[in-house]
Amino acid sequence: MTAMLEVRRLAVSYGGLSAVDGVSLEVQPGEIVSIIGMNGAGKTSILNAISGIVPSAGGEILFEGESITGLATHAIVARGVVQVPEGRLIFGTLSVEENLRVAAYSQGEFLLRQRTRHDFRRLFPTLADKLDQPAASLSGGEAQMLALARGLEAGPRLLLLDEPSLGLSPKLAADVFDLIERLREGGLTILMVEQNVRRTLALADRAYVLESGRIALEGSAAELLSDDGLVANYLGMSPASS
Ligand SMILES: Nc1ncnc2c1ncn2[C@@H]1O[C@H](COP(=O)(O)OP(=O)(O)O)[C@@H](O)[C@H]1O
Ligand SMILES: [Mg+2]
Repeated sequence: MTAMLEVRRLAVSYGGLSAVDGVSLEVQPGEIVSIIGMNGAGKTSILNAISGIVPSAGGEILFEGESITGLATHAIVARGVVQVPEGRLIFGTLSVEENLRVAAYSQGEFLLRQRTRHDFRRLFPTLADKLDQPAASLSGGEAQMLALARGLEAGPRLLLLDEPSLGLSPKLAADVFDLIERLREGGLTILMVEQNVRRTLALADRAYVLESGRIALEGSAAELLSDDGLVANYLGMSPASS
């Protein structure tokens, strides 16, 4: 089977300083794959290189068997690789609905208004009631939902999620993880970066542990979850705090 995404020996550097060094990973259709690792390990740099937001300094990125290395971000989005960036960059002065429209423009359609209207209400019940409100009035959890909804408006086949639960209360983080699970059930393939190791491994099929820009460990999420040394050895925190 051809992997949906195949990253081969990817390198990313900033001003000559290496941030990602020889990372290889793959995502099969229908999988949730997670990249975990400490702050500064290079997780965002990998996602940004896949999306064409930062240039790669080496290696190759294949989507459905074709190289997307060096393509512009809009061309990568057009193929169906869509990133929801860390920090939920939404337009505060625009309404919720306008934020969704902006995201859909490049694809020439507005899914919220079309066949997925019903799905939209099912996936985002709180947002569906606040379409006319300025995005700046949303709570942190609602803003993250809007960032995710915006990503979906772009029509992804592979969704890249960068720390979707960052800064959310445990309850709102649980809502975000539930949503990700439902998106997978709907057939979406997901590569995600998360600090919440246990929750992520409970959701993912497989995971890669990144340490200083290199893959230190990889395996099924179940294997990694049962690895007592994982958190202490690679993630730099005590098991209790994960
Ligand atoms: N735009 C940038 N310019 C310079 N250095 C950067 C930039 N972005 C990230 N870095 C550095 O690259 C390394 C990896 O960062 P990043 O990919 O953001 O890690 P993570 O997402 O795992 O926290 C860090 O040392 C970080 O300081
Ligand atoms: Mg990051």
